[in-house]
Amino acid sequence: MAKKLPARSERPWWRDAVTYQIYIRSFADANGDGKGDVEGIRSKLPYLKQLGVDAIWITPWYPSPQNDHGYDVADYMDIEPDYGTLAQAEQLIKEAHDLGIKFIVDIVPNHSSDQHAWFQDALYSAPGSAERHRYIFREGKGENGELPPNNWQAVFGGPAWHRVTEANGRPGQWYLHLFAVEQPDLNWENPEVREHFEQVLKFWLDRGVDGFRIDVAHGMVKEPGLPDITTDPELLKVQKMPYWDQDGVHEIYRAWRKILDSYPGDRMAVAEAWVSPESLPLYLRDDELANSFNFTFLDSKWDRKILKKNINTSIKNLKGIDAPSSWVFNNHDVTRSVTRFDLGLKGGGVSTIKERFGKTKKFNAERGVKRARAGAMLMLALPGGAYIYQGEELGLPEVVDIPKDRLTDPRWKMSDYTDPGRDGCRVPLPWGSTEAGSFGFSSNPALGATESWLPQPSWWGQYGADAQDTNPESTLNVYRKALAIRKSEEGLGDGKLEWIDFGKDVLAFSRPGKFVCIVNFGKSIKLPKGAEVLHSSSQLDGNKIPSDTTVWLRASL
Ligand code: NOJ
Repeated sequence: MAKKLPARSERPWWRDAVTYQIYIRSFADANGDGKGDVEGIRSKLPYLKQLGVDAIWITPWYPSPQNDHGYDVADYMDIEPDYGTLAQAEQLIKEAHDLGIKFIVDIVPNHSSDQHAWFQDALYSAPGSAERHRYIFREGKGENGELPPNNWQAVFGGPAWHRVTEANGRPGQWYLHLFAVEQPDLNWENPEVREHFEQVLKFWLDRGVDGFRIDVAHGMVKEPGLPDITTDPELLKVQKMPYWDQDGVHEIYRAWRKILDSYPGDRMAVAEAWVSPESLPLYLRDDELANSFNFTFLDSKWDRKILKKNINTSIKNLKGIDAPSSWVFNNHDVTRSVTRFDLGLKGGGVSTIKERFGKTKKFNAERGVKRARAGAMLMLALPGGAYIYQGEELGLPEVVDIPKDRLTDPRWKMSDYTDPGRDGCRVPLPWGSTEAGSFGFSSNPALGATESWLPQPSWWGQYGADAQDTNPESTLNVYRKALAIRKSEEGLGDGKLEWIDFGKDVLAFSRPGKFVCIVNFGKSIKLPKGAEVLHSSSQLDGNKIPSDTTVWLRASL
């Protein structure tokens, strides 16, 4: 049974928090090398404070060969030298806390980097050794073991198995990698792996972090026997993959929850679990995780009916579970909502970029930004917490034309150069409106737009944070005001909503305190009589709400 919700000031912070995702490589470059770093984040803490977020989540900042930009971890208890030092990271955590900002780090337990000492040891050890048992090594099929152990495919494309050369110089066993070849899957059946990650959690909790974002949280446990997946296309649509969302993952989270609870303060974890809306609540049981990204919501097109259905499904599935929903429209794996909402794309899967290619419809940036702003204000009024992704508050569109020789996402290579991957939402932020220092991303003024680790388009400066700062109508200021109102409204954050019927093109609902949110998908409509306008995502037209606009009102309807 769901418990009665305490007053907002009494609730754990993660029930209501707006968390800002920092993709460290692309956030801010303090040492002038064209890549973001820890000191870059530190320099922007005042910006984040002013924006009004409650927490920040930093994507993996650990030593890594960067085959998947940090999601291939070589050492879970240190900082990537390109990004800084452990001492700098500790200082950043402290300064964020001094500003009242909670701190979440990413943990990547499904796989390590192939450069992790454990994997290197495994490569140089014999089949059947304790070193190999930390990963998922198997003999191949076929007369000479020349075929992969099963038919699983890697998420980025191609087979999920890679054959190694043994000490005798001959082709030998195969290891599983659900993602890139350089990301071998760890063996969670091995207690040593479990213990190691418990140490990792404690290492960062001891340094004061408030929580963890768990990468591929639905993937660590595989079905016993590693069975082939069905080749029947119909069955494929309904059958659960033998490597996703297995019951065994919950035991891991129950153990982790005990560790989190053994520390003072409301330490938490948020799952990156791409599972069905019915499975998702299982991750949020009382003795498991606090949050799980709401990918059903993220998957929605800019469409009233779809959004309403997905919001209702999410709320319904959490009934009886004492956990809030974690609304999200953007992250570093999906096409930015400005572009998606304009072109009518879904958000889901790991990447929708492939789908976008070949679209003939012309992208209308103005309309995209308008919709994304309206979407953000819808999201921020829904019951629960919300996650925003860096650059979302600037209204950045996806960069769709990064030159092919500059693409870095492993998906590009692993899809045989058919899917450009996710680089388009990871282009370094334009802090400035002019090109110097890669549009203000870098402290090195000599760096041009194409000299940051991913090139920026020539038009990037029109989204510059500096100019948006002083423009009251800018996307940045729409977000700032929305976050300030959200903070001061007792009825926002976790809790309930009541739908209001406002006609076929409108989504409308109320929250406690006569707070009303109206999202207009159709033609311009009149504001309800007597309503006080608290905020709107784009300028109102007298007493009319234009299309693709969200308004927040104080009204009795
Ligand atoms: C999900 C992360 O968000 C993504 O960026 C990464 O490529 C995969 N997990 C593999 O770690």
